[in-house]
Amino acid sequence: MPTMELRAAARAKEPDSPWLDQVFCEDALAGLARIPDGSVDLILTDPPYNLGKDYGNASDQQSVEEYLAWTERWIAAALPKLKANGSLYIFLTWRYSPEIFVMLKKRMTMMNEIIWDRRVPSMGGSVRSFSSVHDTVGFFVARKDYYFDLDAVRIAYDAETKKARSRSIFIGAKWLEVGYNPKDVWSVSRLHREHSERVDHPTQKPLEIIERMVKASCPPGGVVLDLFMGSGTTALAARRCGRHFVGFELNPDYCAIIEERLAAQDAAALAAVDAASAAAPAAKPARAKAAKTAPTAKAAKAAKATKATAKAPAKATTKATTKAPVKATTKATTKAPAKATTTATTTAPVKAAAKRSAKTAAIVKAAKAPKATAARTKPVAPKRSRIPKPPEEISL
Ligand SMILES: C[S@@+](CC[C@H](N)C(=O)[O-])C[C@H]1O[C@@H](n2cnc3c(N)ncnc32)[C@H](O)[C@@H]1O
Repeated sequence: MPTMELRAAARAKEPDSPWLDQVFCEDALAGLARIPDGSVDLILTDPPYNLGKDYGNASDQQSVEEYLAWTERWIAAALPKLKANGSLYIFLTWRYSPEIFVMLKKRMTMMNEIIWDRRVPSMGGSVRSFSSVHDTVGFFVARKDYYFDLDAVRIAYDAETKKARSRSIFIGAKWLEVGYNPKDVWSVSRLHREHSERVDHPTQKPLEIIERMVKASCPPGGVVLDLFMGSGTTALAARRCGRHFVGFELNPDYCAIIEERLAAQDAAALAAVDAASAAAPAAKPARAKAAKTAPTAKAAKAAKATKATAKAPAKATTKATTKAPVKATTKATTKAPAKATTTATTTAPVKAAAKRSAKTAAIVKAAKAPKATAARTKPVAPKRSRIPKPPEEISL
């Protein structure tokens, strides 16, 4: 991860926005009241699809009428949180996307229907219809001057394509160097058990696709809202990309997973900073300044311990906590943010790891460059791309 993004990721919470960089373990509709109107750059959300999945609650098992009425309610409550130039991405399936797209089209402009091809291998499946292997993602904007940074998400051409376009008309074509528009069919494998990113959540999304949305549609230092965090992929992606996040999750076990994933990611980020400063002597003064806050050896030890904790627990802890009735725990934790929930539902090492990660975040913050501060206080609009459009875009 680039250093600037790391620095931004490690910055402290805005003192006047206590809701920032938190996942609240509570009902999204109730929790939205915490967030001021017009304060969010991007709503990126993945609500229950109403396909009968078990999230430890009944959110995916409603009647069609109830589900659509509930969807109307949360959309009406969430959209005022968006800034005027904000955007929304919503994951759906073919089953209810027509109805929900119509709801959103009454309030916003639809820019794309993105197909996430989950690259599900052919394994028999349906015999009376075609097997469904994609998610339908709607991309909506509120106004014409919406934020969109295509250059941040271009995909590099492979060597073969570059070679094929070596004729004189392509020589000097900058777009060939900077890569192509990701288009609206995204072929990214769903997460299998053997993927290191995978945790214990039935509909966890790959970081790769969430990061693409964040980079394209939220300015650096901006705020991403996910009403239905699940395993926290949106929070992780936002932090990795140097954006703030806020969101909600009903199931305390998933809230614990989110806390663990964030702590592990912070520990890995710190280890990367350590490795970079060890390799580059120029970084040493900043590191020395950081050392005043906490001794380096102590921080390294903390990072190591956090890493160790992060490697094991997601599954084990969840297993332990899922045994307790979700309903009962929910009652105790709904009003508290994810942090408080973790205290109640996770094991001691996780709590310690989270503490250590806060400490180590402070160290990284001390090394923060003024450039990163500027990005935090004033989200910048991307410069208009001067890159000439490649032929396939022109022909559209
Ligand atoms: C489709 S999953 C989200 C998965 C997530 N994108 C990920 O990558 O892990 C939807 C989540 O919404 C949660 N949920 C359902 N109803 C909710 C509500 N009213 N408020 C907050 N969370 C809710 C469910 O518990 C479930 O974890």
